[in-house]
Amino acid sequence: MSTQVVNIQPLSQPVDLGVEPATFSPEVEAEIDAHLAKYPVMRSAILPLMFIVQRERGYLDPPGVLYLANRLKLRVTDIWEVATFYSMIHTSPIGKYHIQICRTLSCKIRGAGKIIEYCSQKLGIKPGETTTDGRFTLSEVECLGSCGTAPMFQLNFDYHENLTPEKIDQVLDALP
Ligand code: FES
Repeated sequence: MSTQVVNIQPLSQPVDLGVEPATFSPEVEAEIDAHLAKYPVMRSAILPLMFIVQRERGYLDPPGVLYLANRLKLRVTDIWEVATFYSMIHTSPIGKYHIQICRTLSCKIRGAGKIIEYCSQKLGIKPGETTTDGRFTLSEVECLGSCGTAPMFQLNFDYHENLTPEKIDQVLDALP
């Protein structure tokens, strides 16, 4: 019996994004330094740094990706691999308020379909779209671990549970 050994080598060529890397204020750089100091291996700081770049630039755009690759001494493809895996990281522009409606079983049974329909109607957009004023992005997502309080959505980093149309109105109409 023979064993086949597959030697997986990293790409030898850097990817040319055709852009200059993003730049940040000294305060943001200090915040990034503080995260890097927490980890013995630099690449371990990839997620906290991605959140900072996303916060500063609105989403993880090509200059932001290049910045991260340089700062973490990784390849651009390493950054994209992580960025495209996590739904919290956005690789295209997103609204100021991101509404992620759970559509998995418990929420579905408890009326997620109606919640999606109501939000779509209220905001005038379908899931996957952003309002023209850039305020809201609507997404359908899988279980957010709040099944006991279904139906629910996540609005940026906050959960809103046991949703009804009235509750949605209260939450969305109160946003600044
Ligand atoms: S099924 Fe909706 S939070 Fe789990």
